[in-house]
Amino acid sequence: MSLKRNILDLRKRKEKVLQGGGEKAIQKQVAMGKLTARERVTSILDEDSFHEYDLFVEHEARDFGMEKKQLHGDGVIIGTGTIYGEPVCIFAQDFTVAGGSLGLMHARKITKIMDHALKMRVPLIGINDSGGARIQEGVNSLAGYGEIFFRNTLASGVIPQLSVILGPCAGGAVYSPALTDFVFVVENISKMFITGPEVIKTVLGEEISMEELGGARVHSEITGNAHFYAQSEYECFEQIKKLLTFIPWHNGKKAKAFPPKPPKPEYKIEEIVPADPTQPYDIRNVIKAISDDSDFFEIMENFAKNIVIGFGRMNGETVGFVANQPMVLAGVLDCDSSDKAARFIRYCDSFNIPIVTLEDMPGYLPGVDQEHMGVIRHGAKILYAYSEATVPKITVIIRKAYGGGYIAMNSRHMKADFMFAWPTAEIAVMGPEGAANIIFRKEIMNAEDPEAMRKEKVAEYKEKFANPYVAAAKGYIDTVIEPEETRNMLLHSIEVSNNKVDRRPAKKHGIPPF
Ligand code: HXC
Repeated sequence: MSLKRNILDLRKRKEKVLQGGGEKAIQKQVAMGKLTARERVTSILDEDSFHEYDLFVEHEARDFGMEKKQLHGDGVIIGTGTIYGEPVCIFAQDFTVAGGSLGLMHARKITKIMDHALKMRVPLIGINDSGGARIQEGVNSLAGYGEIFFRNTLASGVIPQLSVILGPCAGGAVYSPALTDFVFVVENISKMFITGPEVIKTVLGEEISMEELGGARVHSEITGNAHFYAQSEYECFEQIKKLLTFIPWHNGKKAKAFPPKPPKPEYKIEEIVPADPTQPYDIRNVIKAISDDSDFFEIMENFAKNIVIGFGRMNGETVGFVANQPMVLAGVLDCDSSDKAARFIRYCDSFNIPIVTLEDMPGYLPGVDQEHMGVIRHGAKILYAYSEATVPKITVIIRKAYGGGYIAMNSRHMKADFMFAWPTAEIAVMGPEGAANIIFRKEIMNAEDPEAMRKEKVAEYKEKFANPYVAAAKGYIDTVIEPEETRNMLLHSIEVSNNKVDRRPAKKHGIPPF
């Protein structure tokens, strides 16, 4: 064969494989409002940067009629490319080929690109659109998933792992994302469940739609399995690209620095926070008032809204913000908000991102529900995460810092590097009302006018403890600052923490509360 004929033969083979599951299956995919696997990959990556590997891989299954089936690329696309000029590894399951189900060769392709990503220290983006383990391939499919889960764990904290759910994902197709750092979902397109509605109906007799069981909203609002929610695949791809501007390519690097920008003038910090500690406000506006260009990229926006987490920049450098949200449940800590914050703190710590904590909360949420849901072990996760973190850690107490919440929200005792408080800060074991009712109960009960006595004692307690000066006198707070000074204090403390060294006792790994 001449070279030209060889080349023509190659082109023909490629063309055939690029048809995926064929025209009919592609039409079905399009009718569901979904892009094809290749369209997804090329939309996320820089133009013409995608390089595909293992295009000619075929399955080797021989049971249940599989010997007669040709599955192009075995239902998954893998390759490398760039995003904003920086290299990434990517895979995309192709639902048009056997429902993107995962057989042995399909899994080998994914593990090959995972191994590349880890060796080359570049982020891994996985697009999941799969019915899970390929039933006809039995234990080989399970083995394939096992190999993926192992690598997800190996890569955890070394390279960023992003999972994009773009179809009905079942079984192993959701466990791998759950082991990764960030999960993206899209309205009407993403579904995640361990077992689908059919199995649930057969086993439990319960009827539920795919959407109600594991749609995009369910996972971004109720379960907390998803970190980013979008209305369309294209919006989701923009979120992926934006996230990558904030995080480093691996744990041996810092995130890329951008030119510093001041916050937008419409965010005036002194006008955001009401002086009355019972009045709510949106803490995100405080973050915008102190971050470069007022650009705050929120994570898990719709889950456990009583705490806010996300990335911004200060002086061009990425910062992770953890902030109580007084607008929701007065910003209390509970099971979900503790989980949400703790994982983010560990992410920032793994990837060299300084953490700025903004505090305004009345403590942990009391109640039978929370106690029985395990608020003790969930709440302990924040204590563990902040104590464990060795990146620069700075806290600003805005108003309330009561009880366990005061300790948990990156206090001096969790080894915060810098602790600042506004003059409106109230640092105490509990709120003045509750405290007065307990410690002055007898005086109030025995008073001629108990209500007047209660008011007097509340005022007395407030005067003594509900301010930042008792804590400042002990050095637990480094200084009390005016709200307008907040950004400059933070910029300075981040700058001086640039070469922070904080060594901890050697250990294999800790055992965080679960
Ligand atoms: C083999 C599969 C498959 C699977 C889908 N297909 N899932 N083939 N193994 N797991 C095939 C279908 O047979 C069909 O092939 C094509 O993909 C499209 O599937 P449809 O059912 O027509 O699509 P849709 O109606 O959109 O439903 C999608 C679905 C459903 C919800 C994902 O297919 C489904 O419930 N699949 C099974 C899910 C599941 O229970 N998986 C096993 C999980 S256990 P044709 O040839 O007709 O086009 C697991 C173990 C790992 O993953 C656990 C680790 C902890």
